[in-house]
Amino acid sequence: MAILTTGGAGYIGSHTCIELFRAGYDVIVVDNLDNSSEVSLERVEKIVGKKVKFYKEDVRDKEALRKIFSENDIEAVIHFAGLKAVGESVKKPIEYYDNNLISTIVLLEVMREFDCKRLVFSSSATVYGTAKEMPLTENMPLGAINPYGRTKYFIEEILRDVFVSDDTWSIALLRYFNPIGAHESGTIGEDPKGIPNNLMPYISQVAVGKLEKLHVFGNDYNTKDGTGVRDYIHVVDLAEGHVRAVEWALKNKGCEAINLGTGNGISVLELRDAFVKASGAEVPFVIDPRRPGDPDEVYADANKAEKLLSWKAKKNVDDMCRDTWNWQSKNPNGYND
Ligand code: NAD
Ligand code: UFG
Repeated sequence: MAILTTGGAGYIGSHTCIELFRAGYDVIVVDNLDNSSEVSLERVEKIVGKKVKFYKEDVRDKEALRKIFSENDIEAVIHFAGLKAVGESVKKPIEYYDNNLISTIVLLEVMREFDCKRLVFSSSATVYGTAKEMPLTENMPLGAINPYGRTKYFIEEILRDVFVSDDTWSIALLRYFNPIGAHESGTIGEDPKGIPNNLMPYISQVAVGKLEKLHVFGNDYNTKDGTGVRDYIHVVDLAEGHVRAVEWALKNKGCEAINLGTGNGISVLELRDAFVKASGAEVPFVIDPRRPGDPDEVYADANKAEKLLSWKAKKNVDDMCRDTWNWQSKNPNGYND
């Protein structure tokens, strides 16, 4: 059975390809390599000992997608492809709406045309907007506070409408919390372009000596130690969650939003300390002012995933730090080494 992953050469997609192969699926990837490298797929092939069928195409290109669907017997699609940097989305809203919304609409048109109606979508905890009550449950009110977040929120709404119009679809809206870590081989991992926006890649680049020190954005939050608290989840756990979601979509009809998190809140300083312990490297830091728009705490209620998908995150923060360090220390320049 073949599963198409859009954006499958990226960070979460490449890890998910491995888990799909391990579960016995054939994997097809369409990616325009806008934010990734084909090297990630070569390494996936090495890990699993199987060939990834790769199409270097843009998901907005309807003819290219038609060709992929006509050449393969695709049972379900995981739609990872999208632009994802919050700050960049504020500066380039048109590019974000174009890429994320149009790619989804073109994908839906072609899926319908080929009668493939099983879809797993990469949503984000960002769709909860400025919710204050924690943990976040899937039925809480939605909103978004930047263009990136709005693309995820709008796409969720589109997909809910699609299901209302035709209940033969099965759609899983996976709301990821903060994915970090890497495959245990240390051969694939997160490879951000330029200076990382996110905490974990920043910490690991300080540890490997590429950046001087960590800037902790605020220590006056209403949290256990004053620094921001998030729900970090190991990318391999997240990848396994996708396999379960595909299995759910193959067996059921419906449109379900599902949190993929651990349910545990970890502070910036706790993550930094865990990383130092796991790596033995130094991670000096300074306390800087808050980053605008950052909430005190964000963490999931992860019960729905357990009930619906029989999935639960297994790896802890020490595993996440060890595997990030393994990847970063073996590949200080990411896929450019
Ligand atoms: P990534 O940038 O590593 O992967 C996205 C991939 O999509 C890249 O390989 C990119 O080249 C490709 N792509 C983008 N636009 C495309 C297009 N129009 N056609 C074909 N390919 C295209 O990002 P990731 O961290 O792996 O995230 C995957 C998905 O998960 C994204 O939709 C992202 O918004 C979502 N998500 C990520 C996080 C996170 O923290 N990493 C959190 C929540 C949600
Ligand atoms: N932080 C620092 N220093 C840094 C980077 C981050 O102190 O250099 C802090 C932030 O203030 C926050 C925490 O580390 O308290 C986590 O920040 P990240 O940027 O790693 O992650 P966010 O939770 O802010 O954002 C993530 C995704 C977004 C998504 C959002 C909500 O990157 O795409 O979760 O789900 F929108």
